[in-house]
Amino acid sequence: MAVDLSREDKITHVPTHVGIILDGNGRWAQRRGLPRLRGHEAGAKNIGPVVAYLEQCQVKYVTLYAFSTENWKRPEDEVRGIFSILQKVIDSRLDEVCQRGVRLRHLGRLQGLPERLQASITKAVEQTADNTGLTFSLAFNYGGRTEILDAVRRIMTEAVKPQDINEELFHKYLYTSGMPDVDLIIRTGAELRISNFLTWQSVYSEFYFTEVLWPDFSRDDVDEALLSYSSRQRRFGGL
Ligand code: IPE
Ligand code: IPE
Ligand code: MG
Repeated sequence: MAVDLSREDKITHVPTHVGIILDGNGRWAQRRGLPRLRGHEAGAKNIGPVVAYLEQCQVKYVTLYAFSTENWKRPEDEVRGIFSILQKVIDSRLDEVCQRGVRLRHLGRLQGLPERLQASITKAVEQTADNTGLTFSLAFNYGGRTEILDAVRRIMTEAVKPQDINEELFHKYLYTSGMPDVDLIIRTGAELRISNFLTWQSVYSEFYFTEVLWPDFSRDDVDEALLSYSSRQRRFGGL
């Protein structure tokens, strides 16, 4: 007799590291006749539940792309609004997240962000540094090319010898130092591109694109992405 496995049971292998390009906040708001910032607020509210569910699914690293080095091109009030929403999220959730054993990391440049936000991010990273649960990285003011250039600058500053440079050493200079490469990248919001996310770390990632807008991205959508990942055969150039 055929056993009807539930969707969760069919997920036979879970990615260690999931990256999410959270997109579609603005369109979510516009479709409701609301200002774009309301979409960013709704998107921010969805971060906690999705990350908690991924943690429950045994994912060990979650990296969320929330503000790119290119997003500075947006109108100043939207940029300021996004900063203020993130500030509120960190300040209100930090203690609870820390108690859950989550380790927070920041990927990107702090420089350029408002000083208060820099202080909140630094505090969150320091307060959770010894936690051993899920590693939750926030890619904020992040660009994959900037990350590589920042690494090159540090390598040159430290006068590393050319013959000592290899992939392993180079990775130590990236924002993601010590983290495994991203196994699965999920992009919400219907666009089929990477938009400067995890350039170095995504060379062998699997991709999952969905039209669902980020504020609507649910546990069922997570299951679908994990199920899709689970059905793939990764070869890394081998057979
Ligand atoms: C993603 O939503 C959040 C950021 C990039 C900051 P968008 O604001 O890009 O939403 P759309 O793509 O305009 O719908
Ligand atoms: C990608 O979304 C960046 C983040 C999710 C932070 P964008 O909305 O900025 O991407 P493009 O401009 O459509 O490529
Ligand atoms: Mg967008």
